[in-house]
Amino acid sequence: MGSFKSRLLIHHNIGQYACQKEPNSHSLLSLCYNFTSMKVLGIETSCDETAAAVVEDGVKVLSNEIASQVELHARFGGIVPEVASRQHILAIIPIIEKAIAKAETAWHDLAGIAVTVGPGLAGSLLVGVSVAKAIAAVQELPLTGVNHLEAHIYANWLCDEKPAFPLLCLIVSGGHSDLVLMRDHGNYVVLGRTRDDAAGEAFDKAARILGLGYPGGPAIDRAAESGTASIELPRAWLKGTSDFSFSGLKTALLRLVERGQVCHIADAAASFQEAVVDVLVSKTIASTKEHRVRQILLSGGVAANRRLRKHLVASSPIPVLVPEPILCTDNAAMVASCGYFRFQAGKRDGLDLDVVPSLKLA
Ligand code: KG4
Ligand code: ZN
Repeated sequence: MGSFKSRLLIHHNIGQYACQKEPNSHSLLSLCYNFTSMKVLGIETSCDETAAAVVEDGVKVLSNEIASQVELHARFGGIVPEVASRQHILAIIPIIEKAIAKAETAWHDLAGIAVTVGPGLAGSLLVGVSVAKAIAAVQELPLTGVNHLEAHIYANWLCDEKPAFPLLCLIVSGGHSDLVLMRDHGNYVVLGRTRDDAAGEAFDKAARILGLGYPGGPAIDRAAESGTASIELPRAWLKGTSDFSFSGLKTALLRLVERGQVCHIADAAASFQEAVVDVLVSKTIASTKEHRVRQILLSGGVAANRRLRKHLVASSPIPVLVPEPILCTDNAAMVASCGYFRFQAGKRDGLDLDVVPSLKLA
């Protein structure tokens, strides 16, 4: 039953294919025709969020549970990897049970399990991957390992409007600022990436410089609300490339603070945010013209930034898809969605699945 069930799951949308292979069984036939939707359990533990979600057909969120470790790490001013993995161990089982219960799904209703294998913190990734493998073995469910960056892109399949190829995706997270051309599912060309600090990393460091605490991105976003972008800060355009660089900007802010030239923290936050957003938006729009794409997708934790969302939508001549903020920052619904499309493409992993902390997108 195990292997046939697996074939059914992968070919669920062409259920007749499976039925033709086993034409004599009544129960199998009914299973084929009842198999109209495919629920995937997603598991995410790459950094400091323990998350589990159930997504139907890659597009419909049935549950999306997140146990954040923000408070735990806040007193250290950043993520402590050892603390993160220990907390994942404590939180993972309750969060999966919650996701299954919220989705009103039984284990046997699941079509498969998708789990983040990288990039991320090795100890954190190991918790999610080990639990996913254990569940896959016990429940006899197909398993697929997901790239965290790919999952961030797939958060856009959870929006009301669905992505259309070819498209350009700007992934801006704590570790990445990547501009990616996507011509089809699973097909990625990285056009540009950060040469030093990622956008989220720059936000976090700037917040520390301004004494706004951790996590820095949301703190700058909030502080900027009551400020004006009146302080002149440098922008690294890196002309002729789609690459990004934010470390010069961060250093410029640090110098201003050291020289006592920042009077209003809110103005400094707004000016810093404007400089980052200006570069991200201008370079993304320039790239869309070069590659003639139909849509721009925004994803990753920094995509929750209100100024970035607004400015990109206002500046783009083509449609922009932006997931709701809870689907921009780390979550497992995006992992389940990505996993669904991997299952559709026949991409399955065995119980020898391992973590890849420095996994690349392409
Ligand atoms: O995608 P994510 O949750 O985790 C990684 O994969 O890294 O991104 C986390 C990053 C952090 O650097 C955080 O400061 C930033 O996203 N971030 C924001 C906002 N919310 C989260 N940056 C700017 N504005 C926000 N509202
Ligand atoms: Zn992330």
